[in-house]
Amino acid sequence: MSHLKDKNVVITGGTKGIGLATALHFSRAGANVLITGSSEASLQSALKQLPNAEGLVCDLTDMAQVMSLGNATQKTMPQVDVLFANAGIAHFRPLQEMTEALFDEMMQVNVKGLYFSIQQIEPLMPSGSAIVVTASIAPRKGQIGLSAYGASKGAARAMVRNLAAELTQKNIRINCISPGPVVTDIFSRMVDGDEVEAKKILDRIASTVPQGRVATADEIAHSVEFLCGPGSEFMLGTEITMDGGKAEL
Ligand SMILES: NC(=O)c1ccc[n+]([C@@H]2O[C@H](COP(=O)([O-])OP(=O)(O)OC[C@H]3O[C@@H](n4cnc5c(N)ncnc54)[C@H](OP(=O)(O)O)[C@@H]3O)[C@@H](O)[C@H]2O)c1
Repeated sequence: MSHLKDKNVVITGGTKGIGLATALHFSRAGANVLITGSSEASLQSALKQLPNAEGLVCDLTDMAQVMSLGNATQKTMPQVDVLFANAGIAHFRPLQEMTEALFDEMMQVNVKGLYFSIQQIEPLMPSGSAIVVTASIAPRKGQIGLSAYGASKGAARAMVRNLAAELTQKNIRINCISPGPVVTDIFSRMVDGDEVEAKKILDRIASTVPQGRVATADEIAHSVEFLCGPGSEFMLGTEITMDGGKAEL
């Protein structure tokens, strides 16, 4: 039997990509899943694929919504055994093409929204529970156009290391999943939904990965399952890298 059976799981950014794949995987394993998304439309579209899941709108650019996440969650899920803090955005731009608005949005979602969503859910988490944060290899691998995104994910990585020291006092574990490139809508969002352009970007990126391909969101979901289960109980404040060798080789 899966360790996820009957566990209460909150997944931020559970409407698409890595978050949705993890929600599907965890639901099939018998977990009670609550996903969040930035809009009612994206939430409803995801919930059609997740008949037994609950959903909450929580736009991480709206601090009033972020700061009510704990209360809103508690109404349907009084106890949270696993938090997958995954919501994030990417604006890949070289230094001279980055704007203050794009920079601020990325820091708001990937850093401030992440931090305060963890702050909101943590009081609902009992001893023995686990938090997994989606970071990235971007803080470790120098790449053109990723300086601001990499800074936001470097902040997430540092946050996890420091929160681990704090939360272990309550026997709550926190670790990161750090993916390399994964096939998700994050690339089509970068080119305003142009799927042909998004595929070109992904093909170009795949050629830079030693294994010659990008990951599927489902592969990442399996690592998230490991990070919140008994097999990873001695992991704290650290990360699993899933990148086909891109950051190491
Ligand atoms: N794909 C990759 O190559 C890759 C690699 C490394 C790390 N990551 C990280 O993986 C995480 C998931 O990304 P993904 O690739 O699965 O992208 P995705 O398919 O675009 O999904 C992003 C998720 O984040 C949510 N989100 C975006 N903006 C939000 C906001 N303002 N408020 C609340 N939720 C918001 C989206 O919800 P809505 O749809 O409701 O807006 C969606 O559920 C991100 O943290 C990303 O940085 C991705």
